[in-house]
Amino acid sequence: MRTKDTSSRKKYDFLVIGSGIAGLSFALKVAGHGRVCLITKQKLEETNTSYAQGGISSVTYQPDDFEKHVADTLNAGAGVCNEEVVRMVVNEAPEQIDQLLKWGTHFDKTKDGKFDLHREGGHSENRILHHKDNTGFEIQRALSTIIRNNPNIDLLENHFAVELITQHHLGEMVNRWRKDIQCYGAYVLNRTTNKVDTILAKVTMMATGGVGAVYQVTTNPVFATGDGIGMVYRAKGMVENMEFMQFHPTSLYNPKERPSFLITEAMRGFGGILKRKDGSLFMHKYDVRESLAPRDIVARAIDNEMKTHGDDFVFLDVTHKSEEEIKKHFPNIFQKCLSIGIDISKQMIPVVPAAHYTCGGIKVDMKARTTINRLYAAGECSSTGLHGANRLASNSLLEALVYADAAAKDAINNIGAYTFCDKVPEWNDEGTSIPEEMVLITQSKKELEQIMTTYVGIVRSNLRLKRALDRLEILYHETESLFQRSVVSEPLCELRNAIQAGYLIIKHAQQRRESRGLHYNIDYPNQLETH
Ligand code: FAD
Ligand code: SIN
Repeated sequence: MRTKDTSSRKKYDFLVIGSGIAGLSFALKVAGHGRVCLITKQKLEETNTSYAQGGISSVTYQPDDFEKHVADTLNAGAGVCNEEVVRMVVNEAPEQIDQLLKWGTHFDKTKDGKFDLHREGGHSENRILHHKDNTGFEIQRALSTIIRNNPNIDLLENHFAVELITQHHLGEMVNRWRKDIQCYGAYVLNRTTNKVDTILAKVTMMATGGVGAVYQVTTNPVFATGDGIGMVYRAKGMVENMEFMQFHPTSLYNPKERPSFLITEAMRGFGGILKRKDGSLFMHKYDVRESLAPRDIVARAIDNEMKTHGDDFVFLDVTHKSEEEIKKHFPNIFQKCLSIGIDISKQMIPVVPAAHYTCGGIKVDMKARTTINRLYAAGECSSTGLHGANRLASNSLLEALVYADAAAKDAINNIGAYTFCDKVPEWNDEGTSIPEEMVLITQSKKELEQIMTTYVGIVRSNLRLKRALDRLEILYHETESLFQRSVVSEPLCELRNAIQAGYLIIKHAQQRRESRGLHYNIDYPNQLETH
């Protein structure tokens, strides 16, 4: 613990960490009930949400119904979903879509004025509302516009949350089994002044997104380093199911590009077919749903084909569709591929699996409450029980909305009972200095990404996991020591959080002595009857 006055101190009713769909929708819902501070580590729009392509799932028209959406979600989740949670999220979807429309989001419609519903892997009906192939960008645009104009919300861009404040900072012993841990706010690095501010809050919402950037090949932006998960774990909150890291089957094979550009699953719903480099089909060997099987199955099938045949990629073929239709539904993908010399109406798209979505995370109940009092979590950093061992495509934007809503309702009901904790000391950086060389941070980040990709990818083994953990422990000790003697900086904090996230993925993978959903271990190839 560090204690010395260096910077400013602010007080808010609600502190929201993260400006993706979860953080923004929570902020908008509580803004009528107190002062809100919304912090985000970069610009407001720099989020995973902005990258979402395919869309958001919701039962909209017959012959679809709630039972089908529930069944598809449970099916994908391989026995680990909480059915009560699944029913809540599916049933609330239409109301949340309505809210998004009221906030100014546009979804594509057909000529007769009905929503144009796409289909993705694992869905038994067309139920994906979308805005062309850049749905997340459209949602982020709409929500960001009203956030910027809301007088009750102080938006602090370029502010990086470093640690949650709990009794630990008052000098008390805090452990993971204490039921009375309180969150008093967060220590936040102002990236412009390079000072750590103390932001005290009655209620804190963690909405920091996933951990895809701990892998080398990922669809996630580089800032998806699992900061919220790291902070909550260090504050002794519960984190679960981290072994269920979802790899998207089809990211564009373009080795020099990071993040990998996503080729939406909706393209397979549209009729895209997976093929080997020689043009032969392979998905029929793995699942009767072929190219439209759930992601875990398709990603593993592609991984197996690539390894068996020594290929660097497989193809996704939409050349049998009309150019006009391709451009209408997937204008951004069309342009992106063209920019690297591939006309997808005439040539097949080279694709590879990429780390994409964190199914596990900060454990929350159905009101989005974490195991730390006054701390909520929503969106990709949380683990609600919806996704189980494998997330159904396009269920995550929806989950973020439903849980931000549940958190807002609970926080509004309870905020009257909370006061600020004035005893919280300011951040202390006495005795620290600027790290001697940035390479100490950048090289460790590269090593982490390599370890995770090589040993903790789509297919795992006991030996690979052990190797990964042994290597990660070295990085962990080096980085903690560097952190203790360094002035706080974003790259160092991100590295620390990413190592924490990698550690949790490996530990949870080691604890699961079976293969289930997204977690496949060749030493335990079967799924246990109960888990
Ligand atoms: P994010 O949108 O990731 O936002 C996290 C926020 O937290 C950011 O503002 C970030 O700056 C901030 N933050 C993080 N750490 C800190 C810190 N230490 N201090 C301050 N701020 C911090 N899902 C679907 O349902 N449908 C789709 O079609 C879909 N397509 C996708 C396509 C791509 C390419 C990707 C990468 C994901 C896709 N997903 C999709 C998943 C979905 O986009 C994410 O799960 C969702 O947007 C996460 O929202 P969020 O609010 O939880 O977090
Ligand atoms: C996609 O468009 O394929 C991504 C959908 C998702 O991740 O839910």
